[in-house]
Amino acid sequence: MARHSMARHSGEWPREQSEAVLPSRLAPPLLRPGLVPRAAVLRHLTASADIPVVALIAPAGYGKTTLLAQWRRRDARRFGWVSLDEGTDDPAVLLTCLAAAVARAVPVEAAVLRDLEVPDSPARRRALAGLAVSVASAPHPFVLAIDDCHRLTDPENLRSVETLAANLPPGCQLALAGRTEPTLPLARLRAEGRVLDVGVTELRMNALNAADLLRAAGVDLTPRQVADLTAHTGGWPVGIYLAALAHRKGSPGRAAPVPVRGDDRLMACSFPHRGREGRIVPTSAAECTSRARNRVRPVSTSPRSDHVR
Ligand SMILES: Nc1ncnc2c1ncn2[C@@H]1O[C@H](COP(=O)(O)OP(=O)(O)OP(=O)(O)O)[C@@H](O)[C@H]1O
Ligand SMILES: [Mg+2]
Repeated sequence: MARHSMARHSGEWPREQSEAVLPSRLAPPLLRPGLVPRAAVLRHLTASADIPVVALIAPAGYGKTTLLAQWRRRDARRFGWVSLDEGTDDPAVLLTCLAAAVARAVPVEAAVLRDLEVPDSPARRRALAGLAVSVASAPHPFVLAIDDCHRLTDPENLRSVETLAANLPPGCQLALAGRTEPTLPLARLRAEGRVLDVGVTELRMNALNAADLLRAAGVDLTPRQVADLTAHTGGWPVGIYLAALAHRKGSPGRAAPVPVRGDDRLMACSFPHRGREGRIVPTSAAECTSRARNRVRPVSTSPRSDHVR
């Protein structure tokens, strides 16, 4: 195969790499029905396509992943998506995932795949260089989304992401979503107006958002109750959702048990005291949200300590 031939998508990838390119890492999450559309922040995102880096940084449960997936659905550009997990802070695994994600959005040089098959760092450097060339020569704008970017800690992985960011052509973006900002040299880019920050301020729900969420969850509260709930949770989306579940399942004042679903890590971490059969038992929606709020401080708007190189 000629060096400049292209691999178009991860399905064409060699079997050796199939362990890294797990669907759970490369597929954006499904959006459940009834989500609040977050129109203002989505408009802001789609209107900022000329800003190369988007940093969606906020504590757990602020709706970062949800917003990223909503943005992907709304934006006309293709998205390459990587969800980081315990296994992706390995340089070979991460670079393979990044290459597979980029390949879902734009053609990637086939030589990148061949270099990724060789388990040594010179080959990885070649693969990264080839991937950067593919990114720089993208035939159409695209977005590379990296979710749970706080898991990026290995210096080689940070360099890989930084290299791809540095080679994005106009109209392409790197979107980083995570609980904390990875140690990338974003301060200089920020100073140049090349980072769009979306944080707690933009992600927290107002009373109108909360009313939409509650309505979609089948919970009917008065405007005053919605306002109180919004204030009580600090607009923390998962707190409002948990309160909606507690209201829906129970009667006013004493909520019925809320089942802990295996897919809802946030419930499990917010409510460690489970009753029989793994069910959590908030006594009321107010207790539900106050417990949750005490576990994760919702507001963190102090300036970030950027790593400047
Ligand atoms: N737009 C929304 N509409 C309705 N509910 C939402 C919305 N955004 C978030 N939520 C609620 O908050 C929960 C957490 O959202 P999400 O997983 O997007 O948060 P996160 O910030 O990515 O959290 P983590 O840091 O744990 O990955 C969702 O499961 C949902 O219940
Ligand atoms: Mg998330």
